[in-house]
Amino acid sequence: METVLSGVRPTGNLHLGNYFGAVKNFVKMQADHNCYFFIADYHSLTTHPNPEDLHQNVRQVIAEYLACGLDPEKSTIYVQSDLPETAELYLLLNMLAYKGELEKCTTFKDKVRKQEQNINAGLLTYPVLMASDILIHRATKVPVGKDQEQHLEMTRNYAKRFNHLYKGEILPEPQAFNFTGNLIKIPGLDGTGKMGKSEGPNNAIYLVDEPNVLKKKVMKAKTDSGPTEPNSQKPVEIENLFELMRIMSSQDALVHFENAYNDCTIRYGDFKKQLAEDIEHFVNPLREKIKDLSQDEEYISKVVKLGADKARSSANETLKLVRQAIGIRKFY
Ligand code: TRP
Repeated sequence: METVLSGVRPTGNLHLGNYFGAVKNFVKMQADHNCYFFIADYHSLTTHPNPEDLHQNVRQVIAEYLACGLDPEKSTIYVQSDLPETAELYLLLNMLAYKGELEKCTTFKDKVRKQEQNINAGLLTYPVLMASDILIHRATKVPVGKDQEQHLEMTRNYAKRFNHLYKGEILPEPQAFNFTGNLIKIPGLDGTGKMGKSEGPNNAIYLVDEPNVLKKKVMKAKTDSGPTEPNSQKPVEIENLFELMRIMSSQDALVHFENAYNDCTIRYGDFKKQLAEDIEHFVNPLREKIKDLSQDEEYISKVVKLGADKARSSANETLKLVRQAIGIRKFY
C-alpha cells in the first residue's frame, strides 16, 4: 500500500475549488492508501500570524476536513506542531540543503519580491521543512499543485543525497500523486481563471458561506451583455459559469440554459439564480456540519490526539533509522 501525504497551511477557509480539486479525492483515497493529512502550522509562521488567528485557523481546517469526510480512523489527521519529530528531521536535512539551491527556489524568490521586510531563514528553508513533513513518514506519493512541484523535486534531492551520503535506501523519493481524470478545476466568479482566495473576496465560494453571501457572490459574477447570434461561442466568463453549473446542477437545468443561450433567450439573472440555488443546496449541509464540529472541543481534541499518536509512531520509526545512519547513537 502506497503512503500518501498532504499538508495544508492554516490560512483560510476551504472553497469549492479546494473541495473538488483536492479534498474530495482525499476522501476517496482513504479507502486504499495509507494517508497522512496534516495542518502545516509551522509553515504558516513564516508570515508571523496573530496567535489567536493561528489557533482558530488550525481548528477550522480540522473541522472542515472532517465535515468533508476525512476519517480520523482510516487516515492520520494531525497538526504539524504536534509532531516535533518533523523539526528534528528538518534540522538534520538542513545540513544537506545548500544555500544556493534554496535561494534559487521560485517560491522563495517570489517571497523576496513580495515581503522584502521579512525575509527570514524559515522562508529560505521552507522547502526543507516540507521535505521533512514528507520524509518523516517516508511517503511515496504527494498530491501537489503546480506551485509545489519544485518543492517535491527538492525533497527528492534531499532523499537522494541522504541515501548516498549514508549508504542506504533509507528515505524513499516521493512522486507527485496525479489525480488525472478525477481532477476537477473549478473556475472562479470573476471571469478570469480558477477559483482561488488570492483573487479577491468575491471570486471564491467557501464551504462556510451563508446562503445570502453565497447568493450575492453568484449574482455579482461577471457576465457580458448576452449572446446576439444563435449558437455563438461563449466568452470565457460565461463559459466559466456554465462549467460551474455542469458540476453543481442537474443535467436538466444545464440543458435548459444551454438551449436558452444558443437561441439567445437566456436571462443571466435566472441563470445565476438557478446556479446559486444549486450551489447552496450543496454547501448548506457542509456548512452546518463544519459549524457543529468546530464547536465540539471534545471531539476535535480527540481527533487531534489520535492523529498525533499515529503520526508519532510512524515518525519515530523513520527517525530511528535516520539517527542510526548518521551516527547519532545512544550511549545509555
Ligand atoms: N507548502 C504547501 C502549500 O503551500 C503546504 C505543505 C507543507 C505541504 N508541507 C507539505 C504539502 C507537505 C504537501 C506535503 O500549500
